[in-house]
Amino acid sequence: MNAQITPAPAHDDLDAFWMPFTANRQFKSNPRLLARAEGMYYWTPDGREVLDGVAGLWCVNAGHGRREITEAVAKQLGTMEYAPAFQMGHPIAFELANRLANIAPPGLDRIFFTNSGSESVDTALKIAIAYHRARGAGQRTRLIGREKGYHGVGFGGMSVGGMVNNRKFFAASMLPGVDHLPHTLAIEHNAFSRGLPQWGAHLADELLRLIALHDASTIAAVIVEPIAGSAGVVLPPIGYLKRLREICDKHDILLIFDEVITGFGRVGKPFASQAFDITPDLMTTAKGLTNGALPMGAVFAHRKIYDAFMQGPENTIELFHGYTYSAHPVACAAALATLDVYTKEGLLSRAASLAPEWENAVHSLRGLPNVLDVRNYGLIGAVELEPRAGKPGARGFEVFVKCFERGVMVRQTGDTIAMSPPLIIESKQIARIVETLGSVLRETP
Ligand SMILES: Cc1ncc(COP(=O)(O)O)c(C=O)c1O
Repeated sequence: MNAQITPAPAHDDLDAFWMPFTANRQFKSNPRLLARAEGMYYWTPDGREVLDGVAGLWCVNAGHGRREITEAVAKQLGTMEYAPAFQMGHPIAFELANRLANIAPPGLDRIFFTNSGSESVDTALKIAIAYHRARGAGQRTRLIGREKGYHGVGFGGMSVGGMVNNRKFFAASMLPGVDHLPHTLAIEHNAFSRGLPQWGAHLADELLRLIALHDASTIAAVIVEPIAGSAGVVLPPIGYLKRLREICDKHDILLIFDEVITGFGRVGKPFASQAFDITPDLMTTAKGLTNGALPMGAVFAHRKIYDAFMQGPENTIELFHGYTYSAHPVACAAALATLDVYTKEGLLSRAASLAPEWENAVHSLRGLPNVLDVRNYGLIGAVELEPRAGKPGARGFEVFVKCFERGVMVRQTGDTIAMSPPLIIESKQIARIVETLGSVLRETP
């Protein structure tokens, strides 16, 4: 096994890579390197096993090293490594779009391919604005996001997003005409809720306040994550998303669900929209689409939106948007193989059957030192820790590092520890994640 492991780079060789979303100096003085992965595990260059409690970065839903995906990618590379998707097409792009349409929420059967979650978000925002223009309502340009929302790092996604650290450096460069709903994290009302919290459906009515302020005729779309992950797992109160849907319908505003982390089985259905029985007009995805094997995203658009663009002379391009690598053939092959694995192994619904066990496991951490809240839904879990006085995020980071050193990978956002394991997880691995985190929490002042 060790023979396949890539050796760790020498200390000096760590400088050139400017690492994303990383404390570079801290990391480079004490690197956490991963060199190989299979099933539920990573291995470090020195051969230490690390149980993956976050599916890489919420993307490796079928577990690591899936042979079927590797073979499909290799085959496609050997057949045709690239083909443009502008004014041309290649067969498996259409096959993939059809396969995705078959598992989509009702009506969302028009698929636009991107290369990441950020690109999916910016694409969906542009489609929303262009849709209103195409149907003669071009004054509808305003976008409504939400506090604590994370919609990637493009200027559009950052603008509708509500993560302070993501916004403050670029404060003067945000899109104009954006407003935000309040977030739904309310520990004072909902601490230790099991599943969706009871309190807070009325927070959706804040949209009515924004409509009264800006007038509905100026608003193109509302974008929310059905469950926010990157901000530390924020769940929708019972009834909240339904209410948002009703208000959007009443005022002709498009509702966009950002399902970049909730898509592809994370909450026990293909998409959270189906788990919550609320159909958005546009849905953004990425991550689990290829099991993380290759970069790819997809925007699911309701057919009525696509149809609104299909007018005017037939030789005109209807939507001036696309990427060189939209529907990249190798990514399409990876996605098709991924969907095959998901289907064959029942992974798009497996989280639903594991959810009760997962819920009990993560809630067993209640009562441990500094634990303010435990949240869960599907195969998502979060433990919110009391921040150290004057040092927000320090306790969370220490817990994350200690878990890694003890062979369990969790994710830290500020003082929240998030968990989202591959959907192939077994009971003993659920127990190991929670036992490791529990023992670290007991020993972390
Ligand atoms: C809800 C959501 N939207 C968008 C993104 C951005 O995706 P990417 O990092 O692939 O650009 C993320 C990433 O975590 C996300 O969680």
